[in-house]
This record gives sequence, structure tokens and C-alpha cells, in this order.
Amino acid sequence: MGRVSGKVAIVTGGASGIGRATSELLASEGATVVLTDLQDGPGEDVAEGIRAAGGSAGYHHHDVTDEAAWEKVVAEVLSAHGQLDILVNNAGVGGGGIPVDEMTMEHWRHTMSVNLDGVFLGVKHGVRAMAEAGGAIINTSSILGVVGLPNTAAYTASKGGVRLLTKAVAMECAARGLNIRVCSVHPGFIDTPMVGGAIQKGGPERREAILKSQPTGQMGEPKDIAEGILYLASDAAKFVSGSELIIDGGYLAR
Ligand SMILES: NC(=O)c1ccc[n+]([C@@H]2O[C@H](COP(=O)([O-])OP(=O)(O)OC[C@H]3O[C@@H](n4cnc5c(N)ncnc54)[C@H](O)[C@@H]3O)[C@@H](O)[C@H]2O)c1
Repeated sequence: MGRVSGKVAIVTGGASGIGRATSELLASEGATVVLTDLQDGPGEDVAEGIRAAGGSAGYHHHDVTDEAAWEKVVAEVLSAHGQLDILVNNAGVGGGGIPVDEMTMEHWRHTMSVNLDGVFLGVKHGVRAMAEAGGAIINTSSILGVVGLPNTAAYTASKGGVRLLTKAVAMECAARGLNIRVCSVHPGFIDTPMVGGAIQKGGPERREAILKSQPTGQMGEPKDIAEGILYLASDAAKFVSGSELIIDGGYLAR
């Protein structure tokens, strides 16, 4: 028996990085995984890889900022699998390196729309789908949902929003007697295409600066975060709700 055997999970942003590692780990621990993303080729490849390894997975094209797309994905999952037990609101966009007085409204709104509106819509439709049978919702925030960093105003504000949205909905579910746990996970710097993009933009000095900012001198791996999400999604975390799980190599301990 795997740690999430028999459960059905949606993982957004499942084509890459942390979402990919989470999809693979949940599937290897027995869940049926529906991974969603905008990147159809890589998303189909992740689902195919999971099936080739003996797991159960499918891919859906899904823009997390689009409420009609959420309604469609959740309806399709309920119709195909009869239940939704785990929702991982992981899709996100980065976007550091912009001083606040040079940040355009377009950048601000795009960041908020994917990172915060997308999580709100997921929580809204996840709670509806889980209201009767219960479930677990895990929202990917960041260390930058807890502390600030220069030149990341939009990203940091969006991730701080995810942190408190999570707590508000966790309290609401408890108050309404719903057996739905809602938690946030807070990755430190993890070696994914998102961070790779920032390094490409900033050059080798950016990579050096990131590594220097790490207590261990190293970035984490996507699987480090997936392991935390697996725990929060599993019944081992049955008394955990409204919590923030920080997985950051000690970044926030200083
Ligand atoms: N990598 C890190 O260091 C780090 C640190 C803290 C938090 N995070 C958060 O972890 C999550 C995953 O990031 P990652 O590092 O794996 O990045 P990534 O770029 O590898 O993966 C993000 C995925 O989200 C998808 N996506 C973007 N916009 C979308 C949309 N509108 N609808 C659906 N999918 C969309 C992308 O196509 C991509 O596949 C993000 O929320 C990110 O903010 C990452």
C-alpha cells in the first residue's frame, strides 16, 4: 500500500519542476494523478512516464486563471474517477529582478492572476468538489510568502496572499464542519526551470548570489518539496490544517 493509495489528485503546473516531481511521487505512492498545465507536450510526457512506471495519470490542458477551465477539469475528474481527494495548487510564475518603481501594472496583474487568483479558483472549486467526502488542499507559497526580497514585490505579495488565503480557508472549512484540510508549502530556492530562467536572465553572478544566500550553499531539488506535499496530502497529516510547511534548507531560520 502506498501512502496515498486509492486517492485521486489534481496537481496544477504538473508539467515541470516541483509539480512534475509531486505528480510522480503521488502516483508512485498509489494516487491517480490528473496533472494540468499550459505546456501540453511536457505535460503529456510526464503522464506517459508515470503510466510507463506502472502508475495512473492523465494530463489536461488547464489555465489556472480561467474559472471555466477549473469547472471543466474538476467536472471531468469527478466524472472519470468519482472523487477528488487531493488538490495541489502549484502552478506559478516567477519574476524577480524588477525594482518596484519600474514594475508595470501588467507584470503585477499577471503575477497576481496566476499565483493568487489561480490558487483562489482552485480552492473554490476544490472545496466544492470535496465538501461531501473531504480531502486535502495544498497550496504552493514560497519562503517569499513569509519574508521579503528586493525587486520581487509582485511575486512576494502574491505568495504572502497564498499563505493567508490558505489559513482563512482552513479555518472556514473547520467552522463549517467540512473534513477538508488546507495547508501551504513554502519552498526555498529549488533547482527548477523557474529558477533556471532567473539565472539565465541574471547570468552566473545571479547563480552565485543564490547559492551564497543558502545556509547550506546549495539549492534544493523538486523532490524535496514533493515529499512535504505527499505528507500533507496523506492521512498521516490528518490533524494538520492551516499549517505552513517550510522546506528551505534553513533559509528562514536566520
Ligand atoms: N523553484 C523555486 O525555487 C520555488 C521557490 C518557491 C516557490 N516556488 C513555487 O513553486 C511552484 C512551482 O514552481 P517551479 O519552480 O516548479 O517552476 P516551473 O516553472 O518549473 O513550473 C511551473 C509550472 O506552472 C505552469 N504554469 C504557469 N502559468 C500557468 C497557468 N496560468 N496555468 C497553468 N499552469 C501554469 C508552467 O507552465 C510550469 O509548467 C510555483 O508556484 C513557484 O512559485 C518555486
